[in-house]
Amino acid sequence: MSDSRSAWKSNIGFLLAAIGSAIGLGNIWRFSYMAHQYGGGAFLVPYLVALLVAGLPIMLLEYGVGHREKGSSPLSFTRIDSRFEWLGWWMPVVAMFGIMLYYSVVIGWCFNYFLFSFTQAWGSNTQAFFFNDFLQLSESANQLGGIRVPILFSTFLVWVVCWAICFRDVSHGIEKASMIFMPILFLVTIVLVVWTLTLDGAVDAVFAHYLHADWSKINLFAADPVVREAAGDVWAAAFGQIFFTLSLGFGIMITYASYLPEKTNISKNALITCVVNCSYSLFAGLAVFGIVGFMAQSQGVPFAEAIKGGPQLAFVVYPKAISLLPSMSGLFGTLFFLMLVIAGITSGVSLVEAFACSLTDKFDWSRQRVVTLLCLGGFLGSIVFTTRSGLYLLDIADHFITNYGLVIGGLLECLLVGWILKTSTIMAHINRVASRVPKAWSFSIMFSTPIILIYLLYLTLASDLKNNYGGYPTDQLIIYGIGWLLICLVVALALTFSPWKPAKLKRRHRPEEDDLLV
Ligand code: ALA
Repeated sequence: MSDSRSAWKSNIGFLLAAIGSAIGLGNIWRFSYMAHQYGGGAFLVPYLVALLVAGLPIMLLEYGVGHREKGSSPLSFTRIDSRFEWLGWWMPVVAMFGIMLYYSVVIGWCFNYFLFSFTQAWGSNTQAFFFNDFLQLSESANQLGGIRVPILFSTFLVWVVCWAICFRDVSHGIEKASMIFMPILFLVTIVLVVWTLTLDGAVDAVFAHYLHADWSKINLFAADPVVREAAGDVWAAAFGQIFFTLSLGFGIMITYASYLPEKTNISKNALITCVVNCSYSLFAGLAVFGIVGFMAQSQGVPFAEAIKGGPQLAFVVYPKAISLLPSMSGLFGTLFFLMLVIAGITSGVSLVEAFACSLTDKFDWSRQRVVTLLCLGGFLGSIVFTTRSGLYLLDIADHFITNYGLVIGGLLECLLVGWILKTSTIMAHINRVASRVPKAWSFSIMFSTPIILIYLLYLTLASDLKNNYGGYPTDQLIIYGIGWLLICLVVALALTFSPWKPAKLKRRHRPEEDDLLV
C-alpha cells in the first residue's frame, strides 16, 4: 500500500484548479437562465445572501476538513467518525452519477455548437435547429427515441479529454491543464463582455433587466400566498445555484484541499475561490443580458420576447444573436462556445477527480486504473442523455440532484462538523495553518446555515409536492428525479458497506493535534 498522496505544485495551481472547478457551465449557462427565470436583478439578492450564509462558510468547512484529514470525502468523514462514511460517499456519487453524466453531454453540445459557429450552421431559425435538427427532441421523457450520433461523439470526446487530464497525477494533470485553460477562459470572457457591451441596445438591457431588481419577487413574507410561494422558489433556486456553482456538496473541494501542503492559507484561498467564482458569474451575465438586448433592439421586439429560459438561452438565443452581429460573427460564436467548453471541461475533471480519489483512498487501486474505469463507465452512463429525450432527462435530474442531492449533502456536512467533530477542532486547525477564522463561522456552521438549508429544503419539497416540477407528469419525475437520487443513495451505501475498510484509514500524525484554544 502506498502512502504517497498527490500534491499541488503551487498555491496558484491549486487556486486555478479550484476556481476552474467552480467556474463552469453553471456560471454562464445555468446562472444566466436562472437569473432570467427568477426575475433578473431580483435573483442577485438571494444569490449574494446564499453566498454569504452558505457558500463561504461551507467552502471554508470543506477546505478545512480536506486539509486536516488529508483525504477524499469518504476517507475524511471516516476519519472524523466512521459512522459517517456513507455521507462521504453520497457527495462524490451525486457528483459523478447525478451531475457528471449529464454535464458531459451539455459540454458535448457546446462542442458541437463550437463547430457549428464556424459556418453558423444553425441558419435563421435557431429554435427549430436546436430542437428539431440537433436534439431531434422526442415528445416526452418516456420516449427515449434513439441516440443522437453527433452528440454521442462529442460526449465521447469530452470523456476522453477528462480521462487524459485526470490520468496523470494532480500536479501534471489537473494543475497543468488549469494553468493553461483558466487564463484563456478569463481572456475570452473579457473579450466577449467588452465586445457585447459595445453593441447597440446592450448596455440599456443590462440596466433595465439585469441590474434592476423587482423586490416583490423575493418577498418571503408577502401577504399573497402565491407571491410568497414564488418567492420561496427563487430563494431555493439561489441556494441550489450557490452549491452548484461553488462545487460544494460534491466532495470536490475536500479532495482538492487534501492535496495542499501543511502550511497553506486555506481561509484566504476559500475567500478567493468564492469571490472570483461569483464575480465571474456576475460579469458573464453582462454578456448574456447584453446580447439579448442587442438582439431585441435589432429585431424591434421587446426584451421579454427576445429572451428565452432554460437551455434555450445558450443554444437558441445566443446563436440567433450571433447571426445578427454586424461583423465577425463567426469569431464571436467560436469564442462564446469555446468559453463554454473550457469552463465545462475544468469543472468536469473535478467531478471525475472527486470520485476517482475516493476510490483510490478506499481500495488503494492505482489512479490510472480508477480513472480509466470511471471515464469508461461514465461515458456509458452518459449515453442515456444523448438520446432524443436527453434534454428532458437532464432537466429533471438537474433539478432533483441540485436542489436535494447537493443541499442535503451540504446540510449533513454542517451537522457532522458542527455537532460531532465540533467546529472548534476545524477552527483550531485553520487558525494554526492559515488566517484566523471569525467566531461567527462556528455559529454559522452549527446553527444559521443548517436552519436556512432545512427551511429551503422544506420550501422546495412543498413546491414540488404541490406543482409537478416543470409540468412533467408525476411518473416521469419519480423515475428520473427521485429514481436518480435513490440510485445515488444505493451506490453510496454499497460502497460504504463493501467488505473493504478504507485502505488509507490510518490517521496522519498531526503535530499540535488541534489542541489550540480557539
Ligand atoms: N461548479 C461547476 C459549475 O458551476 C459544476 O458548472
